[in-house]
Amino acid sequence: MLNFKNIAKAISEVTNSNVKELEEYIEIPKDFKMGDYAFPCFKLAKELKKAPPAIANDIKEKIQIDEKYIKKIEIVGGYLNFYINTNILVEEVLKEFENKKQNYGATKIGEGKNIVIDYSSPNIAKPFHIGHLRSTVIGAALYNIYKFLGYNVIGVNHLGDYGTQFGKLIEGYKRWGEEYKIEENPIDELTKIYVRINNLCKEDESVLEECRNNFKKLEDGDEYCTEIWTRFRNLSLKEFQKVYDLLGSTFDSWNGEAFYSDKMAEVIEKLEQTGKLVESEGARIINLGEDTAPCIIGKTNGSTTYATRDLAAILYRARNYNFDKALYVTSYEQVLHFKQIFEVAKLLDLDEKYIKGLEHVPFGMVRLKER
Ligand code: ARG
Repeated sequence: MLNFKNIAKAISEVTNSNVKELEEYIEIPKDFKMGDYAFPCFKLAKELKKAPPAIANDIKEKIQIDEKYIKKIEIVGGYLNFYINTNILVEEVLKEFENKKQNYGATKIGEGKNIVIDYSSPNIAKPFHIGHLRSTVIGAALYNIYKFLGYNVIGVNHLGDYGTQFGKLIEGYKRWGEEYKIEENPIDELTKIYVRINNLCKEDESVLEECRNNFKKLEDGDEYCTEIWTRFRNLSLKEFQKVYDLLGSTFDSWNGEAFYSDKMAEVIEKLEQTGKLVESEGARIINLGEDTAPCIIGKTNGSTTYATRDLAAILYRARNYNFDKALYVTSYEQVLHFKQIFEVAKLLDLDEKYIKGLEHVPFGMVRLKER
């Protein structure tokens, strides 16, 4: 089939220049009226010691190229513009399509490479919002494309199933659990509890303290807190599954934030060893210079953070998936978060390959009339 490489080869036969270099010079004109491919002859002026228009004339006269594929060559300024015979192109594309069927366009460039895609990742006991829907759809599209390119793809639903908000939910449930129909309508009812306890926290600092302690207890494996947490998690997953069933979404791993609860100590240890983990207003942070806000690794009461869990996940994914690329699909609201953790990840003593493979794939937020 015809492509720009054939054109580069034909030009090199006239000019005796390096084919690979010529391939780099070939451009696709912005306006198709200027042809399908363009060759800027001034790139060869020095090498051939000739003015670009003279080079263009020379090439046009002497080039041996199948007229079946190229119907016209025009000189405009120092450019040679090539016009493809589109009928033949269409014919060939359709023929290839017919032959390869659903494998049309598939390649093996990803063979032997692993790619982790972290997408969807809704938060337990909170609504599955439009941002999660976008992440689910964009993540799945990336998943399918990489698979088609021969990569070994691991789709991870990094559930938001941990953090201070669970301390709050547990507190709210303790106080008013009986008033709500959680089994019937889990997400809405849990959201109501969450809003109510959150308001109380704003009024009363001691309640907030209770909530923080609940999360600390959950982290320490307290039986009551773990039981409530498990129940909320299961109820939420059942709700999310309804959306996934509609979309046909599947994941290779459902390891959410809680999965890393026993894997953060190592992160903290590694960071301590670098001497860069410092105290600030009771919290433990890593400073990231003038332009980036510090990354909070440990809160005042010793609880861990969203960032620490993501760092533990990077270690885990490097070791267990040996990733060449690790993508994170979220809205651009989290640009700073990923900038911070990718920066801190450099302190974890990981192979350079993993650091280079980390990539945030941000998408725009959707604003509805209401909000
Ligand atoms: N649960 C988060 C949210 O709803 C998204 C998590 C994205 N993935 C990650 N590894 N941080 O905003």
